[in-house]
Amino acid sequence: MKVHELVARFAKAGEAANPMQAARDELEALRGDLGAIESALAYVSGTGGNARQVFYRSPNMTLLKVCFPAGRRTPPHDHGTWAQILLLSGEEKNTLYRTEAGKLKRASETTLTRGAILPMLKETAHVAECLGSVPAIGLHVYGGDILDLPRRMWDPETLQAHALDWTLYEKFAQAASKAAGAPAA
Ligand SMILES: [Fe+2]
Repeated sequence: MKVHELVARFAKAGEAANPMQAARDELEALRGDLGAIESALAYVSGTGGNARQVFYRSPNMTLLKVCFPAGRRTPPHDHGTWAQILLLSGEEKNTLYRTEAGKLKRASETTLTRGAILPMLKETAHVAECLGSVPAIGLHVYGGDILDLPRRMWDPETLQAHALDWTLYEKFAQAASKAAGAPAA
């Protein structure tokens, strides 16, 4: 599979009546051939921030390869739209929260391994955490332009909501990574 073929599948899903479901159907179809996705995306390191992770961007769809290093935990954050992760390798624990008027309510947790799919609704926030000693690498699909959408993040210590700001995000991520676990909320 070439990267343009992967992009074409999701770009088409973005035009469907229910883009989230159409993208989910594509992910389900692709999970049986993860090696093909890995080869097509070998040229994307997945590190160095969103700008270097994104390999397709449009007003209704963003595709990224994300390489999440061992020992790293995110602060709670949302995506400003629906999001789905197909894990390609490694192990990633996700703690999911419902957001209500800017407040977090812890809902569930799930650990993704190779081939697992995690769908998140627009009102879902999450904490992702790389388990084990190798990076967690995933194909991320977002239902909008992730570089443009208004997004939120929460201080992992005080749970105060903030507009996404990458400098502050990094500070929160370092605090989150030192904590014993995801915030209870
Ligand atoms: Fe996320």
